[in-house]
Amino acid sequence: MRVLVIGRGGREHAIVWALSKSPKISKLFCAPGNGGIAGLAECVPITELQFEEISTFAKEQAIDLVMVAPDDPLAAGLVDHLESKGIEAFGPRANAAIIEGSKVFMKELLKKYSIPTAAYETFDAYEPALAYLRSQKAPIVIKADGLAAGKGVTVAQTMEEAEAALRDIMVDQVFGKSGASVVIEEFLTGQEMSLLAFVDGSTVRLMVPSQDHKPVFDNDKGPNTGGMGTYSPLPHIPESIVQEALVNIVQPTADAMVKEGRPFKGVLYAGLILTPNGVKTIEFNARFGDPETQVILPRLKTDLLDIFLAINNGTLAEQPIEWSEDAAVCVIVASGGYPGPYPKGLPITGLENVQDSLVFHAGTALENGQIVTNGGRVLGITGIGKDIVEARQKAYADADRIHFDGKHYRTDIAMKALK
Ligand code: AMP
Ligand code: GLY
Repeated sequence: MRVLVIGRGGREHAIVWALSKSPKISKLFCAPGNGGIAGLAECVPITELQFEEISTFAKEQAIDLVMVAPDDPLAAGLVDHLESKGIEAFGPRANAAIIEGSKVFMKELLKKYSIPTAAYETFDAYEPALAYLRSQKAPIVIKADGLAAGKGVTVAQTMEEAEAALRDIMVDQVFGKSGASVVIEEFLTGQEMSLLAFVDGSTVRLMVPSQDHKPVFDNDKGPNTGGMGTYSPLPHIPESIVQEALVNIVQPTADAMVKEGRPFKGVLYAGLILTPNGVKTIEFNARFGDPETQVILPRLKTDLLDIFLAINNGTLAEQPIEWSEDAAVCVIVASGGYPGPYPKGLPITGLENVQDSLVFHAGTALENGQIVTNGGRVLGITGIGKDIVEARQKAYADADRIHFDGKHYRTDIAMKALK
């Protein structure tokens, strides 16, 4: 089969890496890809929202399957576009991807079907939102409705911070039309868990659980990022909690989408928080997580292409899916300054000295034969071992073998599993 993956980050590198092991794939493309993906797939200079260019390329190249990885093209309807041209695509249609694209939609769906989530109110005008906010107490959470590159959520410790966030979203419109509506939400405490599932409408098959680290600095200090590291499994979280999340949250959400006439087909990502009152939903994403994918797919023993095809054929219930017992820890190596402004084009050295980790490129480019930095999150170094301790040691040893000016990583990835 000839397969095209859409996207350019570490997640896409991990997906391309997993697909490249499939004996059924004769040719892999990635649009636009990055400096690391180029070693496994032919990178095509077409970007994620160039729908016409993508479908024309897929026709010309007789592509059998287009795998759409990122949120933006999914929300904007790339899968619908490809299907309308008779091209097979993997990922939810726009009417299902809205579970990520609109937090207001997601919250109302969960309320309608009594699926556990933080208490909330939604507003589409500033004055009533402000009046409601002033009737509440900090800490409190303010969320822009739409996609905001992971930056639309403020966990406000003070009322001043909360009011500033509301003003940014609704008055100054820093997220554009993604901030036309807001969700004001109860602050919850507990460990977080990313629970991703393969879903073909009503069949839900959980992937192994993982945990992300969003703040940029150790001990969860500093501003939120796209994710500074992940690990899997979560030895400190009992299987009963994962089952509770499946039964109370993930399965009922898939069923609700079917009942709403928006069957979800693809990867459904539940961002969960384990509160003293049970597991609650923080968010849903309509795609693989980044950097969750960099620890999940290295543990997958089954051909990923077979799973994608089973989802598209509606035969996921019969598809064998096997996971290894290994532990995986991914340390993100970021540009100095990220998630604020950061330089690009800095040479990356030492990649050839990496010993036993997988190196997933997130923001790199190949310039005259030299790999250079080209994003905030530059590389994800995934160590694999018999347990978290071993996987961590390997990931950090290899992260230290790689250099570029201003390189920054958190030193405490996966420590929550070891306390
Ligand atoms: P999101 O972009 O929805 O994943 O939110 C980013 C981060 O904000 C989450 O990973 C949580 O750490 C935090 N967060 C979101 N909603 C809440 C909430 N209701 N209570 C506490 N923390 C939250
Ligand atoms: N790691 C968080 C996300 O992919 O949304």
